[in-house]
Amino acid sequence: MNRALEAFAKVNRSLLVLGKRPDGFHELDTLFQTIDLSDELLFEEDDRLTLSVAGEEIPADGTNLVLRAARALSERTGPAPGARIRLVKRIPVGAGLGGGSADAAAALLGLNALWGLGLTREELGSVAASVGSDVAFFLFGGRARGTGRGERIEPLPDAPDESLVLLFPPFGMPTPDVYRSLDTSPLPVPPRRGPAGKAPPDRNDLEAAAERLRPELAALRASLRAAGASPARLSGSGSTVFGVFGSREEAHRAAESLDGRGGVRAAVTRTLSRADWSRRALPWRTEGASAPEALR
Ligand code: C5P
Repeated sequence: MNRALEAFAKVNRSLLVLGKRPDGFHELDTLFQTIDLSDELLFEEDDRLTLSVAGEEIPADGTNLVLRAARALSERTGPAPGARIRLVKRIPVGAGLGGGSADAAAALLGLNALWGLGLTREELGSVAASVGSDVAFFLFGGRARGTGRGERIEPLPDAPDESLVLLFPPFGMPTPDVYRSLDTSPLPVPPRRGPAGKAPPDRNDLEAAAERLRPELAALRASLRAAGASPARLSGSGSTVFGVFGSREEAHRAAESLDGRGGVRAAVTRTLSRADWSRRALPWRTEGASAPEALR
C-alpha cells in the first residue's frame, strides 16, 4: 500500500548570525515559517531501501538527504526493513527554502510510521540534527524559533496568515559559500541581538554576504519593495527572495508584474499554520502502531 506525505518548504522570516563557533558552524537565532509549497514522498514496504526522484534533476543516490535520513534512522534504531521511497520534487533546489531538509524530515516521519518504530518527535529531532542543521524544524512545521546551528527548535504560536511572493532567480546559492562570504566581511551594524524581552530584529544577516556574491539579489529585493512588499527578504542563504504583501490580490498583481524579468520566476504562496501543516505533513495512522500516537 502506498502512503504519502507532503514535505513543506520554509522561509526564514528573520535570521540573526550571532557568531562563529569552534566547530566551524555559525550560532543562529532564526524564525522559521512553513509556506504552502511542497514536495511529496510516497512510501511502500519493500525488503530493500530504494529512492526514485521525479521533478527536478537531483541525484537519487546515497548523497540524497532522504537516504541519509533513512540511514541515520536505522543506525539509531538497529537494522530496519527496507522501503521503496518515491520523491516528487517541486521545491526548487539551492533556493534557501529547505527543500532537501524538508524531504529528510518527511523521510524520518514516514519511515518511523512505516517501520512502526514509535520514536517521539524529540527522539527524531536528534536524528534530524545529525542529517543537517535545519532538518529538525521540518518535524514541527508552522512557526518556530531555531537556535544553535538552527537545530534547537522552539515551536511558536501561529502568526496571522501572510501572502508572499517568491522570486526564484535562475541560479542556486551554495550555503557554505554564503557563510564564507559572511566570514570575510565586516560584521553587521551593532547591536547584533535585540534587547532582552523585545521582539528580535527583523533582518537576515546572510543577505549582505549573499548579495556580495550575487548583486542581482539586491535588485530583486528592491523590485519587490517597489511592487509594495514589506519586508522583502532573502530566505536563508538564498537564492529565493520573498516579499510579504497586505493581501493575496496585491501579491498576485506583484507576481504578474515581476514574473519572467531577467529569467526570474515569480510565484504567490501563503504561510501555513501548524494545524494545516499537521494535516498534510504528518504520517497516516497505522492500526495498533504507537508511532503516530507518539507524534501527536
Ligand atoms: O548543516 P548543513 O549541512 O545544512 O550546513 C551546510 C553548511 O552551511 C555547513 O557546512 C556550513 O558551512 C554552513 N552552516 C553554518 N552554520 C550553520 C548552518 C550551516 O556555517 N548554523
